[in-house]
This record gives sequence, structure tokens and C-alpha cells, in this order.
Amino acid sequence: MKYGRIAGWGKCVPQKIVTNRDLEQTVDTSDEWIVTRTGIRERRIAGEGETTASMSVAAARQALDRAGIQAFDLDLILVATSSPDYLLPPVSSMIQDQLGAQCGAFTLVAGCTGFVYGLATAQQFIAGGAYKNILVIGAEVISRNIDWTDRNTCVLFGDGAGAVVVQASESPTGVLSFVLGSDGSGAEHLIVPGGGVVMPMSQRVVDERAHYIRMNGREVFKFATRVMGKAAVEAIEKSGLTLADIDLVIPHQANERIIELAARQLGLPLDKFFINIDRYGNTSAASIPIALVEAIEQGRCTENSTLVLVGFGAGLTWAAAVVKMGVLEQPRFAMWRTIPGRAKTRARLAMGALSMRAGAFLLPFYTRVTRR
Ligand code: UT7
Repeated sequence: MKYGRIAGWGKCVPQKIVTNRDLEQTVDTSDEWIVTRTGIRERRIAGEGETTASMSVAAARQALDRAGIQAFDLDLILVATSSPDYLLPPVSSMIQDQLGAQCGAFTLVAGCTGFVYGLATAQQFIAGGAYKNILVIGAEVISRNIDWTDRNTCVLFGDGAGAVVVQASESPTGVLSFVLGSDGSGAEHLIVPGGGVVMPMSQRVVDERAHYIRMNGREVFKFATRVMGKAAVEAIEKSGLTLADIDLVIPHQANERIIELAARQLGLPLDKFFINIDRYGNTSAASIPIALVEAIEQGRCTENSTLVLVGFGAGLTWAAAVVKMGVLEQPRFAMWRTIPGRAKTRARLAMGALSMRAGAFLLPFYTRVTRR
């Protein structure tokens, strides 16, 4: 089984909405500037107690339920993030524990591109025959790394998490091809300078606000428009398909203008691109999986749809993957999904108790029958 079907998907975004109007009250900006330059109208910001791990777990539970599997069926958990709960331990192990999974887990850092890197990695473990069920998560609480007095960055980002279950399959679905890229010469254009090995956490770091994201927006913009279309074309060529076979492009949601330029470069109409940046802003590694989940929920991505996922980000990095969706709905799990989490646990326990009682009740008959 060399293919990795996307068997389950889920997302979690914080309740708290921060609008452009809200930001007008705190920094020198305007709703008009933000909307025309980026396409963003509002973003979700994690509240107290909401973390990268907690949102990942919520998104992952939905993905597991959709796939019709339990956490203990997982063979590997892969988490793409640049805002882990702690520097150590890896947030992937916290998520593994909270889900009740018994498998390996690791965190992957490739900026906003991380989820596509993760999907390509998962596909390799499945193609090699090592694993059957892999959970891939893209999650960020990037708002805690933002300088809320810096209008160049604070209007852009938001928090959230998206997750998929990649499952071994015989039919040609999942990641059909991918392209991964990195150009570290542009590292300084998107960087958190303080708090690492080069500039360990100190009063100086705090005074200089060096523990927050610094970005040269124009340089990242130029880079993005250079790589987005090119990476998408390369991935499509590698898959043996053509542009005409692509039903939907799910781009990293960093700036609507970047997406429009990519559409023009590819010669595709904008309605072939899924865009939800207006409601979430740039959620970094979470942006592509959240968009993928919403594309499915809105019926833009359906059974057997062929997608291109394409992203770019800190590093600088870029990645694109051609993904074929397989069967989306498992009817036997459809009703089960409508039951809320706690009720589901109770139902599982009740079913367990019932089957034990039924077993105890039937055992004497069984023994009598088999003795004859
Ligand atoms: O996931 C990857 C992460 N990052 C990105 O993808 C970001 C890529 N870059 C961008 O999306 C755009 O470059 C930005 C949205 C960040 C900026 O848009 P821009 O059209 O490139 O604006 P700019 O940086 O050239 O700035 C134009 C003006 C400047 O004023 P002056 O120097 O012309 O007087 C900025 O100071 O806009 C000013 N400006 C703002 N004005 C109001 C910058 N931020 C704001 C703001 N509100 N929030």
C-alpha cells in the first residue's frame, strides 16, 4: 500500500475574534489599509489557556473521528509549528500524551510551509511500508510571538490548528507528488532574533523586543511571488498531470494579493483558489490545513478532487504538493460524529459494559452447545 489517503480532517480556531477596527484602537492602522493591502478583515486570537497543544488536540480528535480510528491506532504524529508550547518538551509529545496515542511523535519547523513538509514526510513513511495511520497537524499560537505595538506584523497574523489523518491505501490518492524548497540566505527577512542560542533570553532581549517576530514584508512578498507559481507548476509536472486536471489550489493564506499574483502566473481563474484569509489572517503552519478543512466543509473540495497545496514562509522555505482526495465520507461513522466528545466516551463505556454482560449471559449456552 504505497498511497496515503487523507482519511480524516479537523480544525480548531479560538473563539476570540479581533477585527481590523479593534486594531485601529491600538496601532496606527486602518481597516481600509489592511483590507486593500492584505485581504484580512479579522483574525482569531488564542485566549488564556488556549495553546498550540490544546488546539491541536481538538483538531486531531475531529480528524480521528472522521477517519473512524482511535488515537491508539496511530503509528506516528507529526506537528508543524513555529509556536510550540515550550522550547522543550516538543509539543508533539504533549499532543501524543493528551490524545492517548502510543506512537512516535515529532515537531517539524519549516515556518508557514511546515504542514506541506509534514504531509510529504507522512507520505514517505506510508510509501515505505513502515506505517499505516499518521496524524499530521499544522498549529500555531503565533499571537504570543507578535509585537502588538508593531503595525507591520500585528495586523497580519492569527491563531488556529488543522489536522489530517493520512492512511495507507491501495488506490492512488493522497500526495501524488511534492516539491520542497529552502533558501536560508533570506533568513533575516522573517525572524525572531532573541530567545534562541545566538541571543539567549535576557533583559536586553526583552528591552529590544527581540523575542517578537520581525519581518521585512516587501522582501517576503517578492520571494512569495517568485516561488508560489513555480513550485505549483513543478509539483503538477512531477505528478504527471496538467493544470487542467487541478480542481482547486489551496495556497498559504498570507496575503490575498500574493494569491492573486500566483493565480495570474499560473493562468488560472481566482475561483480555482480557496481563500479564507479575510476571516483568519495568516495562521502560519495552520493556514493550509484550516483552508483544506473549510474547502471540504464548503463542498469546494469533494470526492476525488485534485488539489495543489502550496506555501512559503520563514527560512525562507517553500513547498507544493499535488493531492488527490479519495472517498470522503464513511457513512457508518457519520452518525457517530454528531455525538459530542463526553457523550461519546460514555457511549463507548456503555457499549463495552453491554458486550461484557452479553458475553457473560451467552457463555453458558455457548459452552452447552459446544459440549454436545
Ligand atoms: O507567511 C509568510 C509571512 N509573511 C508574509 O507573507 C508577508 C508578505 N508581505 C506582505 O504581505 C506585504 O508586504 C505587507 C502586507 C506586509 C505590507 O504591504 P506592502 O504593500 O508591501 O506595504 P509596504 O511594506 O511597502 O508599506 C507601505 C506603507 C509604509 O509606509 P510608507 O513607508 O510608504 O510611508 C508602511 O509603513 O504602509 C505602511 N504600513 C502600514 N500602514 C497602515 C505598514 N503596515 C501598515 C499598517 N497600517 N498595518
